[in-house]
Amino acid sequence: MGDVVRAPWDAYFVTGFDTCSEVLRGRNWLAPDFAWQERQDDPERWGAVATQEMTKTLSRLNAPEHTCQRRSLGNLFDRSTIQRLTPVIEEHSARLLDDLAEKLRWGEADFVSTVSEQLPISTIGSWLGVPAADHPHILEITHNQVYAQELLPTKSELATSAEATGHLRAYFTEMVRQRRAKPGNDILTGWIHHWDAREPDRETADEILYRLTMFVTIASLETTATLLSAMVGLLLGEPGRWAWLRENPGHIDAAVDEVLRYDPPIQINTRVAAEDTVLAGVPIAKDSMVHVLYGAANHDPRRTENPDAFDIERRGTHLTFGGGVHYCLGAALARLEARTLLIQLLERFPTLRVTTPPVYASRLVFRRVTSMGVSI
Ligand code: HEM
Repeated sequence: MGDVVRAPWDAYFVTGFDTCSEVLRGRNWLAPDFAWQERQDDPERWGAVATQEMTKTLSRLNAPEHTCQRRSLGNLFDRSTIQRLTPVIEEHSARLLDDLAEKLRWGEADFVSTVSEQLPISTIGSWLGVPAADHPHILEITHNQVYAQELLPTKSELATSAEATGHLRAYFTEMVRQRRAKPGNDILTGWIHHWDAREPDRETADEILYRLTMFVTIASLETTATLLSAMVGLLLGEPGRWAWLRENPGHIDAAVDEVLRYDPPIQINTRVAAEDTVLAGVPIAKDSMVHVLYGAANHDPRRTENPDAFDIERRGTHLTFGGGVHYCLGAALARLEARTLLIQLLERFPTLRVTTPPVYASRLVFRRVTSMGVSI
């Protein structure tokens, strides 16, 4: 239908790889921030508590606030951090696969609740210092919060999201308070030192710290869980593929990236026009929304040959982690979790198969696999 297609509401869909990339990287496209939201005349949608709260998080800020907050985080998962985290993730993964093995002794097991959802929370939890006893609570409120970020949330979804947003605020505000009282040698203590030195007003510093900690946590959970489930579902989807990868472990990284290309955990990201502009020949007025469709971009035949074939031998490119100044800060960590889990799965479960196909939540922006039965 074209690179830029009118949406049934006051917005555009952007589909082609190059055009999506242009929007993500271009200076004349902004995140729909608080100031933009205030100019909209749909208070039910843009004034909703959960929507407003998310609008103040990193991914919805523009320069100079975005630059300042992003710099404060630095390169979260640089080479040395990834090296340090590798044995930790190997340990979490091995423990979860012990649980899986135990369940599989009795027949089918749900891969999502046993492994995919647990590895990301165990990883981020040990990195940030979220006690294991709180993991189920964090998972539940993250699942419920996400609705406010959908394209057209219903009233009841916004209410569910608002409640979850309140819980997230309470939890992470308290976490910052406790860490301030009892500093350690950890990442959050480092952020506290940074913001205390930079921001004279303690309340403002705490507010920023709450948002950063909360956002990094929720940004890492469903996304990575969906990647892990999709990875297992797709790799087991064709007879012989699992065994081939076992024989050819040099293709593991390419296989993870092919999953990311083929079925991105986040399908849509929205930007707004900073000025009147023209995109792929279509005039777009200042403040109009454009929805970047990552899945469509990744399946653009002008970029990827035979794009609807899932081919773990290709070394393709994708936009699954976004692009430009908002490029995902956790890409290296998500890849590490996927590769670590895959290596262990191939080694320990050579005969693994999907016995109940994945069930996807009914959503557009954030994919979520709610269950997938596996057996050996
Ligand atoms: C498969 C897993 C993941 C996917 C598909 C994913 C995808 C994305 C996407 C599409 C964006 C927006 C990029 C843009 O606007 O151009 C983003 C931003 C972000 N992601 Fe991820 N992400 C994943 C995992 C993670 C993890 C594990 C973390 C942290 C530990 C994380 C932290 C963030 C943060 C902090 C941002 C905001 C960056 C900014 O606005 O400057 N993500 N991610």
